Amino acid sequence: MTMKTIVVCALLTAALSAGHAQGNGPVVLQIRADQVAAHVSPMLYGLMTEEINYSYDGGLYAELVRNRQFKEDPKEPVHWQLVRENGGTGSMALDPAQPFNDAIGTSLKLTVSQAAGKQRVGIANDGFWGIPVKAATRYHASFHAKADTAFTGPLTVALVSNDGATVYASATVAHVTGSWKKYEVNLTTDKAAASAENRLVISAASPGTVWFGMISLFPPTFNNRPNGFRKDLMQLLADMKPAFLRFPGGNYLEGNTIATRFDWKKTIGDVEQRPGHMNDAWRYWSSDGMGLLEFLNWCEDLHIEPVLAVYAGYSLRQERVAVGPDLEPYVKDALDEIEYVTGDAGTTWGGRRARDGHPAPFKLQYVEVGNEDTFDRQAGSYDGRFAQFFDAIKAKYPQLQVIATMNVNGRTPDVIDEHYYRRSEDEMASHAHDYDARPRTGPKVFVGEWATRVGEPTPNMSAALGDAAWMTGMERNSDLVVMSCYAPLFVNVNKGGMQWRTDLIGYDTLSSYGSPAYYAQKMFSLNHGDVVLPVVAQGIPTREWQPPALGRRGAAATPPPASPPPQQVPTLFAVATRDSGTGTIYLKVVNRAGSAQFVRVELTGASVDSRGQAITLSAGSPDDTNSITEPSRIVPVTTAIDGLGSNFSRVFPAYSITVLKMR
Ligand code: AHR
Repeated sequence: MTMKTIVVCALLTAALSAGHAQGNGPVVLQIRADQVAAHVSPMLYGLMTEEINYSYDGGLYAELVRNRQFKEDPKEPVHWQLVRENGGTGSMALDPAQPFNDAIGTSLKLTVSQAAGKQRVGIANDGFWGIPVKAATRYHASFHAKADTAFTGPLTVALVSNDGATVYASATVAHVTGSWKKYEVNLTTDKAAASAENRLVISAASPGTVWFGMISLFPPTFNNRPNGFRKDLMQLLADMKPAFLRFPGGNYLEGNTIATRFDWKKTIGDVEQRPGHMNDAWRYWSSDGMGLLEFLNWCEDLHIEPVLAVYAGYSLRQERVAVGPDLEPYVKDALDEIEYVTGDAGTTWGGRRARDGHPAPFKLQYVEVGNEDTFDRQAGSYDGRFAQFFDAIKAKYPQLQVIATMNVNGRTPDVIDEHYYRRSEDEMASHAHDYDARPRTGPKVFVGEWATRVGEPTPNMSAALGDAAWMTGMERNSDLVVMSCYAPLFVNVNKGGMQWRTDLIGYDTLSSYGSPAYYAQKMFSLNHGDVVLPVVAQGIPTREWQPPALGRRGAAATPPPASPPPQQVPTLFAVATRDSGTGTIYLKVVNRAGSAQFVRVELTGASVDSRGQAITLSAGSPDDTNSITEPSRIVPVTTAIDGLGSNFSRVFPAYSITVLKMR
């Protein structure tokens, strides 16, 4: 018996005693390392984003003041409270009679009736589930104000604990004039335990009336970008090394009505002039601080490409614009938007972008027309709308790839965006081979939204296993599936923060974490070559799965449909790629079974070093997960390994996703 056989036998014994999964015989993966089954698209792994689950306001967009424009509720200054200390008296109310500007037709009026000595009266903002305070951190506060002649000032701006006992940082504005003026201060904390139970307080110690407009507070941002993004969330995204960002939606692009769509022209320029809008698709106010240029800046910060979705004349409550002259302004809007992104400073909208602070055009290859237009119940509506957009975009920008959101008649889109939300790990895994037999004659595929929806607010290990099985299929078929992105990306895990369960990355006011599905994606995105190698698999074990008798997204159908027949779904999935520059081979193996799996790997057409690397994500149970209190329970573990070669065997742990990096 050779040394290698002994190692294999030892591993086999270990696997058997661990109770390895039962198949029809030994599991063998035969990899042809000298052949190319397909090329891996350089755009395969990307990100999708929209304002859902407090993704921007209360999420990535670093603004800490909630309802800074006082427009969230037309009647009440929600998230603002009146502060009265030591017997000071006064009142606070919205004052549409003193509008801040044309875009923000109200202000917040503070009337201080009685304040002397230690008495104070002011306004306080409770932020998005609290204002975070961290040690030795500089916060930038700004507000507009004007005062009546009775008010002599000063105003104190402070970060204060909710119980009023601790002032973490404060600054003074000596005098407020009688007309609107912007005031800015820095609030720098010293030693402080990180906490979220705090407010931003602006208060006065003398009587009079002060009107406020647009009150803002920013912590340090990623790359120190003004009006920028939360550092921890950007780092989680950067770590995924995505290729692109699909924005601005999703349902958020469409809105429930035409009036509440993502109207990009109202989201650019000075944030103080942006009206904001009701994000009725997800039922909360959007400040539009995260506007078109901020999405592009986000791409720039991550060194990735925008995939721009343009509004296509259809909104969710079956409001649509008739094809022809009625649709023309919307087509023009899309062309203007593309010019804003790509035009040089000499063009109308490129010039506007330059004036907004970004003279250089952005790279853009893909434009998507609409979102999920299968939901438009008017027959042929999307065919007509798509054709009008497609013709106009291609006429002006022939180099752009135009993405349709469903199959269309009349025009041939370059790419079709397909969305797959699956209700269980087995369901997702059952589709992992869907693209193997898809004809290569039509448009390319963009899987623009997908997820195994198991676990909330973020996916658990079972979801990650379903996702990983699915990703092996996308990667293997990446000549066809040129782009993919999971959705939704973000969720604020505070109570009331989630509108859609099972979201990739969770966070609260102070911290954030990646779900097991996040780490599975990161493993796939960071570890692949540029060519797919043919893999012939033998003895793949399966388990029986009973598909549910439910509608598309788990909704009960009336009358309930008959149960579909049970299916045998593989518990093991694999895909292999090679980097033709370095020669590195990446073998990904997903073992969904509850027991370790012994696998024989036979490589032909390359000599393989016995030493390599294994990156493994595994869990004791499919229900295991990460959370805001246990953010790193399931994370990938990288180990140096030996025993690789042209023929080797390896045991893949129960509930695991493994990347073997072979030289
Ligand atoms: O990702 C959540 C929603 O699912 C998206 O907004 C929409 O496109 C899809 O229906």
